[in-house]
Amino acid sequence: MATTVILGAGGRLGAALAREWSEAGEDVIAFNRAELPLGNAARLEQVLGSLEFDCLVNCAALTNVDYCESHPEEAFKTNGEAANELALLCEQKGARCLHISTDYVFDGHSRQPYKETDLAQPISVYGESKRLGEEAVLAAGPRHWAVRVSWVFGPDRPSFVDQVVSRALVEERVDAVNDKWATPTYSLDVATLLRPFLRRVDGGGVLHLTNTGACNWQEYGQFALDCAAAAGLPLKTLKVGGVPMASIKAFVAKRPVHTILDTSKLVSLGRLQPRTWQDAVAAHVNRQIAAGVWKAS
Ligand SMILES: NC(=O)c1ccc[n+]([C@@H]2O[C@H](COP(=O)([O-])OP(=O)(O)OC[C@H]3O[C@@H](n4cnc5c(N)ncnc54)[C@H](OP(=O)(O)O)[C@@H]3O)[C@@H](O)[C@H]2O)c1
Repeated sequence: MATTVILGAGGRLGAALAREWSEAGEDVIAFNRAELPLGNAARLEQVLGSLEFDCLVNCAALTNVDYCESHPEEAFKTNGEAANELALLCEQKGARCLHISTDYVFDGHSRQPYKETDLAQPISVYGESKRLGEEAVLAAGPRHWAVRVSWVFGPDRPSFVDQVVSRALVEERVDAVNDKWATPTYSLDVATLLRPFLRRVDGGGVLHLTNTGACNWQEYGQFALDCAAAAGLPLKTLKVGGVPMASIKAFVAKRPVHTILDTSKLVSLGRLQPRTWQDAVAAHVNRQIAAGVWKAS
């Protein structure tokens, strides 16, 4: 049986992949940050060098975009240099590296969905550090993948969509940015769509993997509230107001405006069609309610 190592298994995506794949019968060895911190090449080599595995999925990253902007050295070390060390280790062992990356490698100026072949031109330290990580992984050998996701949400760590619902349960006004567009990506759908790549023996390169469609944050939050209201949650407001990105004073780093990723390559390679972001958000909201995260009245 093929063995898969997952790094970043304490995070939103890594935790979901580790659980879903283990439950589906995959042989998974998962490490969280405390168990295997990036940034120490000798330790990575010591721990991973002694393991037998076929595939390594790297979900570990410094993901706070504003923190990265003010801590560039740490960002480049974690998102760039460590990705290089992991990919070289995989290459030495004949294993495949699936390195998770981001829509933030694009400048966001295009109104068309970005293809894998489009030029990555990041406008933030986070985006640049992730671009360097991608380049290193792809340069290590032809069997490795840089898998770009966007706006990840799921049951393992709260994200924007959870914050909107939680706020609407206690506050009468909820606002969200209405001039930045991308596609939400459900961590449980990533588990389904990426699973075939654990066993692929051919190929490698950049891959865009998100749900389908596009929205701005306001539309994303509004749809989540609509689902929550339909499920009977006692919301204090049913509407998400729109605000421009420029009004968010807490944003230190520049954010790309349009980063919808074209997923046609994924469909052609994996023969699996991602569902729409709306179907995925509805599934998430209902799952959270069923799990008792939010209580219906
Ligand atoms: N979240 C999104 O919307 C989004 C969008 C596009 C792309 N992505 C990409 O998706 C991947 C997974 O992100 P996510 O959403 O699961 O974010 P996350 O919840 O922040 O997970 C990242 C994990 O990496 C860990 N980590 C940070 N620095 C580390 C280090 N030096 N050594 C080892 N582990 C370290 C974090 O540990 P701590 O929790 O202890 O800090 C966390 O568990 C990342 O590559 C990210 O760039 C995410």
